[in-house]
Amino acid sequence: MSIRVLSHRDVHRLLPPAECAAAMREALTALAAGRIHQPDRRPVLDPPGAAGLLGLMPAYLAGDEPAYGLKAVTLFPGNTARGLDSHQGAVLLFDGATGRARALLDASAVTEVRSAAVTAVATDLLARRDARVLAVVGTGVQGRAHVRALAGVRGFERIRVAARDAAKTRRVCAELAAELGRPVEPCSSVREAVAGADVVVTATDAAEPVLRREWLAPGCHVNAVGSAVATTRELDGATMAACDVFCDSVAAVRAEAGDYLLALREGAVGPDLLRASLGEVLTGAAAGRSGPERLTLFESVGLAAWDLVAALHAVARAERLGAGSVVPY
Ligand SMILES: NC(=O)c1ccc[n+]([C@@H]2O[C@H](COP(=O)([O-])OP(=O)(O)OC[C@H]3O[C@@H](n4cnc5c(N)ncnc54)[C@H](O)[C@@H]3O)[C@@H](O)[C@H]2O)c1
Repeated sequence: MSIRVLSHRDVHRLLPPAECAAAMREALTALAAGRIHQPDRRPVLDPPGAAGLLGLMPAYLAGDEPAYGLKAVTLFPGNTARGLDSHQGAVLLFDGATGRARALLDASAVTEVRSAAVTAVATDLLARRDARVLAVVGTGVQGRAHVRALAGVRGFERIRVAARDAAKTRRVCAELAAELGRPVEPCSSVREAVAGADVVVTATDAAEPVLRREWLAPGCHVNAVGSAVATTRELDGATMAACDVFCDSVAAVRAEAGDYLLALREGAVGPDLLRASLGEVLTGAAAGRSGPERLTLFESVGLAAWDLVAALHAVARAERLGAGSVVPY
């Protein structure tokens, strides 16, 4: 018996942003069709005094080539100061016919690439066709991945970035500009970055809102990616109330998303706020944007389904190319 191991670098090579977005379209469609099974709530072990937590994200894909996936992901906020990704761990892929462990992948890379790819699909589905200005809040792993993944979704003429640390924001913008071969503008505040923006991404680990309703231009599409737990949020209640809200999974948002749960608790929104899942919009079961002046929101929690399908694509490609390491098991 053997198992294929895909490192951080392998995953990035095997899942470039556009290909991962195509895989995430398949995942969204499969989830909307009921072919992916996953728990609504992710078991999390968060012991008092521990430096980080461990979350378990299992999923099953039914069909001709069934598969189980399990992401065991750790979240260590102190890692960023050490130059490490705050999200660590592994994705295990199992053959759905025999249960055999087929592959082990670096979870940091899978999480980074698949989250931004789902946002790229959401932006393509929900942002206005003539969107020209992109603003990304956050210069961490997700902020950078989102600039890379969204740069090609619309003909953006300007890409702006803001975060807490001005010097880091300038450095990250210079690195992304060199990588993408186009200007990426550092902004001194979130308000400055989002002024007049057509698409906004919040990808921070903030506990309190970083975005205010009054800063958003008419017709803006917002992707709320960070702070995806029940006790923290990036958006104020007024933004939640003003937007047509779409999500990766209605059940997951109701169980885990602080943007929604805290706005609900303070009475800014009602329980019927969530319009539809992205998969329902993609398959035509639900309508998306209803007018050029509407504010739309993609509330992203991040699902085991995305990890499973991203891993399946990376592993299938690795098997074709002979990539990664095959070790006895
Ligand atoms: N929805 C998903 O699928 C998904 C997937 C992975 C991570 N996440 C979440 O996304 C968030 C970011 O993850 P990461 O790996 O990039 O973290 P990170 O630690 O690498 O980066 C966090 C960033 O947030 C910025 N920030 C924090 N507070 C801010 C504020 N008040 N104003 C402006 N910027 C602020 C920091 O400056 C930093 O750039 C985390 O909350 C993480 O749990 C969500």
